[in-house]
Amino acid sequence: MNTPSPASAARLPVLVMGCGAIGRMHIERIVRHPDVTLAGIADPADASRALAAELGAPWSADPLELLDRGHARAVIVATPNHTHTDLGVACIERGLPVLVEKPVADTVADAARLCEAAEAAGVPLMVGHQRRHNPILRQARALIAQGALGQPVSATAMATWLKPDSYFEAAWRRTLGGGPVLINMIHDIDLLRFLLGEVVSVQAQTSNRVRGFEVEDTATAMLRFENGALATLVVSDAAVAPWNWDLAAGEADHYAQQDVDSIFLTGTEGSLTVPRLQLFRYQGARGWHEPLSQARTPLHRLDPYAEQLRHLRAVAEGREKPVCSGRDGLRTLQTTLAVHEAARTGAAVTLSPA
Ligand SMILES: NC(=O)c1ccc[n+]([C@@H]2O[C@H](COP(=O)([O-])OP(=O)(O)OC[C@H]3O[C@@H](n4cnc5c(N)ncnc54)[C@H](O)[C@@H]3O)[C@@H](O)[C@H]2O)c1
Repeated sequence: MNTPSPASAARLPVLVMGCGAIGRMHIERIVRHPDVTLAGIADPADASRALAAELGAPWSADPLELLDRGHARAVIVATPNHTHTDLGVACIERGLPVLVEKPVADTVADAARLCEAAEAAGVPLMVGHQRRHNPILRQARALIAQGALGQPVSATAMATWLKPDSYFEAAWRRTLGGGPVLINMIHDIDLLRFLLGEVVSVQAQTSNRVRGFEVEDTATAMLRFENGALATLVVSDAAVAPWNWDLAAGEADHYAQQDVDSIFLTGTEGSLTVPRLQLFRYQGARGWHEPLSQARTPLHRLDPYAEQLRHLRAVAEGREKPVCSGRDGLRTLQTTLAVHEAARTGAAVTLSPA
């Protein structure tokens, strides 16, 4: 567990809206974290009321009612996507820094409305792309910034694994928008933006051939970055495979970790795998007949969700700027929605400058 932040002894009271799968992960960490404390849980579900009682935390079915009790100094919004904007704006109107789960909203217009509200009020808005808080990814970013790859040339990102049949009992996961592009590929898109910069165009294909639901079970996308690098991404939740960030990086205990990589980056001077951080370079003569040296950077593991809580407090106290701002979340959403549009139309989607 982290050591407490230096600014003040008191823990920052954080209210959690939405106590489902990810809301509970945040709550589990908040109650053990030296920087924050649980200011309350807002969720209409009975199970959330029971959890609040067990933890001795204030509870309400109505997020606004709980907000107005005035216990919170920051908020995590972990409710379904279509509720993020209105709940986020309500926090901002009350001057409360807010961490909104990804995707920041379900449309670009709503995401822009949320960003504009935060900017007008001068209240920090963060988006829960927690991988940016993983030291492995930060190390990869530092290596690229130091020139380990030279000029970035290409990236390949895989997110292939099997979701169990029970996952699809919730009807929204079988319909458009509830599939692996917006749930999973969005994380790889944000990760690649974090490493390589802005995306300028997107081509894509989707398929529902395996499960036959309305929503895709498999998708491929090709991205062009502003720096000229090209990337291919593949996502499938219907394939028996270990190649995805969740299993490879071991961010959460409920995934059985695999000793594999899921991201492969190349450049004019070297190439790097993630998350194992294997760096391949020439030591002498260059060319495909010459031996490549292989170095493995030591990994520093840290729970990114716990680090995200430390960061939330630091941002709320004005000591740090958001690592993933509302605008970052908006751009990642825009790029991810372009995958659906490109797949639907068969044409490349050009993204306007950030
Ligand atoms: N960062 C990540 O890796 C990650 C992982 C999973 C989910 N998420 C995101 O978190 C959000 C929630 O996903 P989930 O899987 O936890 O969903 P979930 O369905 O498991 O939980 C959502 C909870 O929100 C509650 N809720 C619904 N409307 C509400 C409202 N108006 N006010 C308060 N509570 C309300 C529901 O009762 C439910 O308990 C989504 O935006 C999802 O994309 C992010």
